[in-house]
Amino acid sequence: MRILIVGTGYVGLVTGACFAEMGHTVTCLDIDEEKISKLLNGVIPIYEPGLEEIVKRNISQKRLRFTTDYNLGVSSADVCFLALPTPSRDDGSCNIEYIETAARQIAKHMTGYKIIVNKSTVPVGTAARVAQCVREELKKREEEIPFDVVSNPEFLKEGAAVQDCLKPDRIIIGADNRAAAEVLREIYSAYIINHDKIILMDTLSAEMTKYAANAMLAARISFMNEIAEICKQVGANVNEVRKGIGSDTRIGYSFFYPGVGYGGSCFPKDIRALISTAQQTGLQPLMLQAIDDVNNRQKKLLSQTISRYFDERGGVNGRTIAVWGLSFKPDTDDMREAPSLTFVEDLLRQGARLRLFDPVSMPNAKKILPNSPQITWCQDEFDAASGADAIALLTEWKQFRLVDFKPIRTQMKGFAFFDGRNQYRPHDMKIKGFDYISIGVPDQIASTA
Ligand SMILES: NC(=O)c1ccc[n+]([C@@H]2O[C@H](COP(=O)([O-])OP(=O)(O)OC[C@H]3O[C@@H](n4cnc5c(N)ncnc54)[C@H](O)[C@@H]3O)[C@@H](O)[C@H]2O)c1
Repeated sequence: MRILIVGTGYVGLVTGACFAEMGHTVTCLDIDEEKISKLLNGVIPIYEPGLEEIVKRNISQKRLRFTTDYNLGVSSADVCFLALPTPSRDDGSCNIEYIETAARQIAKHMTGYKIIVNKSTVPVGTAARVAQCVREELKKREEEIPFDVVSNPEFLKEGAAVQDCLKPDRIIIGADNRAAAEVLREIYSAYIINHDKIILMDTLSAEMTKYAANAMLAARISFMNEIAEICKQVGANVNEVRKGIGSDTRIGYSFFYPGVGYGGSCFPKDIRALISTAQQTGLQPLMLQAIDDVNNRQKKLLSQTISRYFDERGGVNGRTIAVWGLSFKPDTDDMREAPSLTFVEDLLRQGARLRLFDPVSMPNAKKILPNSPQITWCQDEFDAASGADAIALLTEWKQFRLVDFKPIRTQMKGFAFFDGRNQYRPHDMKIKGFDYISIGVPDQIASTA
C-alpha cells in the first residue's frame, strides 16, 4: 500500500517507519524543513529506542522517504495519515487547526480517491470536521473527488514506541464506511497475522476511546499520588500499599506508581481537552477535574518538600541541588509538560543553584528552561552531585538505579536525597548516609540517627 504520513514527529515518524518495516511504501511529510533535511541526511530528530535502525533500513530499501512537498506527498499515496499536533488552547480545549490545515492541503492536491486517517488525538467530531474542510477545498477547485475520513487513534508510548507500534495491544478503527475500514484492515494485516487486534467502531466512538483511555491511565496515577500523600501523613509505606492493592487482579500494577506527577505531550492536554468537551455538552466532569488538580499539586510536591527540609536547616536560598533526570519519563528526550519544568522553576524562584543532568533530554531542556546563572548543565549524575547539598531524582532512567553512592556521598557537600520516583530502598539509603525522602514513604533521616 502507498501511504502518506502528514506530520513527522514522535507519532508520525515511528508510525511511518513501522509501516515501511511491514512492507508498505511510505512518504513522511512535514512542514519543518530542518527536520526533513536532517532525516534526508540520516539524522533522527528524536530519541526513541530502536527507531534509528528501522528508519535507516527502510530508507536504504527505498520503502521510506521524506518530503516537505504536499504535491509529491499526496500524489504518492492512496491513504493519508494525519499525525499532527493537537495542543491545548488557553481554555484547555483542543486546538485542531493543524489538522484542518493539513486536511485542506490534501484536498488542494488530491486528484483521485483518498482515505484520510486521523491518528492524532482529537475531540469527538473531528472526523466530520476534516470531511467538511476537504469538501470546502474541493468546492473551491470545482472538483468532485471521492474521499473517506477514518479515525485510527494512536496508543504508542514514548520510550517504547517502536515496540508498541509493531506489536499493538489493539488497533481501533473508527469508520462510517465499511470499504474504507477494510483498506485500513489491509494496511494493518501484517500486525494481526496471529491475533486479530482490530476493533471496528464508528468515528465518534473511536475518537472518544482515545481520550477515555488516557483519562483512565492518568486517573490511576493521580489516585496513587493521592494515596501516597495520605500514606506519608499517617506513617504508612505506599510501596507496600501498592503491592497490596496491585495484587488484586481487578486492579493490577500498571500505571500505579507514585511520583512527581504525569507529564508529556498527551495526558495533561488530553485530560484538559476531555474536560472541555464534557463542559461543552453541559456536563460537570468532577472526576476528570480532580485528576488534573491532583496532578498539578503533585508536580509541586518535591520542590515543596525540599523547601520544608531546608527551612529547618537555614533555608533553600543558595543551596545547590543536583537534579537527576529531566524528561517526563525515561527513554525519551520529550520535555513537553515534564514535571521537572515546574520543579526547576520553583527552586530557581527560591534562590537554589541547580546542577542538571539528563542522559538524552538536555538539548531539548536547554531550549525550554531559562538561561539562568543559577543553572549548571552537567556531564553525568556524578558531576551533577559534586558539591551539592542534595540530589533530587526526577526521571527514573535505568542508569540511576545502581549507581555507586559511596563516591557520590563523599563528593557532596550535604547528604539529602529527594527521590521523586521511589527508586531506592529507604533503609539502605539511610545506611549509605543519606537523609532519604521519597514519595509516600516515611522519611529516613541519617543526619540525626
Ligand atoms: N507523542 C506521543 O506519545 C503520542 C501518543 C499517542 C498519540 N499522540 C497524538 O499524536 C499527535 C501527534 O503527536 P506528536 O507527539 O507526534 O507531535 P509532534 O509535535 O512530535 O509532531 C507533529 C509534527 O507535525 C508537523 N506539522 C505541523 N503542522 C503541519 C502541517 N500542516 N503539515 C505537515 N506537518 C505539520 C510538526 O512540524 C511536527 O513535526 C497528537 O495529537 C498527540 O496527542 C501522541
